[in-house]
Amino acid sequence: MPNQYINEFLRLKCAPELIEWKLFPNAKEITESIGCYNAVLHYIVEKESELNVPIKLNDPTINLVSVGDGSTPRTAALFAMRSAWHCYSVDPNANGKDYLQIKRLTIIKKKIENCGDTLHFTSPCIIVCVHSHAPLDAVLNKIKSPVIHLIAIPCCVPYNINRPYIGYEDKDIHSPKNEVRVWLNMQEKIGKIDAEITEAEDIASSKE
Ligand SMILES: C[S@@+](CC[C@H](N)C(=O)[O-])C[C@H]1O[C@@H](n2cnc3c(N)ncnc32)[C@H](O)[C@@H]1O
Repeated sequence: MPNQYINEFLRLKCAPELIEWKLFPNAKEITESIGCYNAVLHYIVEKESELNVPIKLNDPTINLVSVGDGSTPRTAALFAMRSAWHCYSVDPNANGKDYLQIKRLTIIKKKIENCGDTLHFTSPCIIVCVHSHAPLDAVLNKIKSPVIHLIAIPCCVPYNINRPYIGYEDKDIHSPKNEVRVWLNMQEKIGKIDAEITEAEDIASSKE
């Protein structure tokens, strides 16, 4: 089994804190969160020239929302520790701890459907859904921002949108559910998205 992401985790300056806070129950979860971080780094942050608004790790105006983050705010905390972004962990099963020691991390113990206008931003937002069970239409309808990029590593809940995406299998993620999908500039699609999700799911099910 490839250990690139475990090695990357062990080299992080923040690794001792992430371990002490017991954010990750096992190595598999570490590889999922680090795999998501690498997807954001390589397909969003490093694609500066292809985006209308550059996304820089040191830009404190950027928001990241991890939907279905788990009982601990794993992926959101990893991004908060490795960037200057405001990071939100949304999960109805969040364990209730506040993790106040992690700067720029907000935990929302709710389903995404029940977030009201909490996740309406005036600056860019990156949405990450790592094995999330939250429905995609709710994710895209509840998060608003002038610039939205979406990364999904789907498991049981389908994440299909009928528009081009960057997709690849990440063998460094220790799970059979290791396909990463990146949709850039989703803000243009909000409002039209329900029809596109339905259409994409119809196409996917007709191929099964
Ligand atoms: C398989 S777990 C994945 C947890 C974590 N991201 C990981 O990879 O270990 C799916 C998560 O989705 C959450 N979830 C289910 N429905 C949701 C919803 N409507 N909004 C937000 N989170 C939801 C569950 O509470 C659960 O923690």
